[in-house]
Amino acid sequence: MPANPLSELIENNRRWSAERIRKDPDFFVRLTRQQAPQYLWIGCSDSRVPANEIVDLQPGELFVHRNVANVVVHTDLNCLSVLQYAIDVLKVRHVIVCGHYGCGGVMAALQNQRFGLINNWLRHVQDVAWKYDAALKDETLLDAQIDRLCELNVIEQVINVCQTTVVESAWERGQQVTIHGWIYGLSNGLVRDLGVSVSEMDAIDSLRESALARLAPTRG
Ligand code: CO
Repeated sequence: MPANPLSELIENNRRWSAERIRKDPDFFVRLTRQQAPQYLWIGCSDSRVPANEIVDLQPGELFVHRNVANVVVHTDLNCLSVLQYAIDVLKVRHVIVCGHYGCGGVMAALQNQRFGLINNWLRHVQDVAWKYDAALKDETLLDAQIDRLCELNVIEQVINVCQTTVVESAWERGQQVTIHGWIYGLSNGLVRDLGVSVSEMDAIDSLRESALARLAPTRG
């Protein structure tokens, strides 16, 4: 019998669980009773952007949805279901769309690289690039264009979240929920708030303009 190729992970898990219990004997018992996260994280699947770790939150504190290039599509039943459950049932107060610089999905979209099926998904990011063609052309270096598109993609996805029936309905019934746009730097581990937080429908109109004005000219 060959050794279990995942035995190292199972070992890691045993150690992790034991360490948790050693520090806090009731930790898992408490978690089995309920989860009450305040935040929903919509981020990229990239292995270098681990949601809980970045914001130093414990199990039970962050509800998470991740996909390639942190895209929110109005027909994506998976993402919409996460959003609906988070807002309607868990009653999270904040939805954070977090992109990251150097995103492979954004890079592929901008450079029209072909990887197969996923190109259909990345078409949504290409739509963002098309929409902001002028802003992207202000950047002469490719890396700066990619970083700019990473930021613009977050802003567009924030708007997409705001325009779901889930968020619209929550705001209509007076439920407090704020949608935020962040971007994470792979090179320094730091999150940057893009300043596009929205708490009511009326605020969306001016969001794109103010966000564009706030973005740094180049990231390098
Ligand atoms: Co990415």
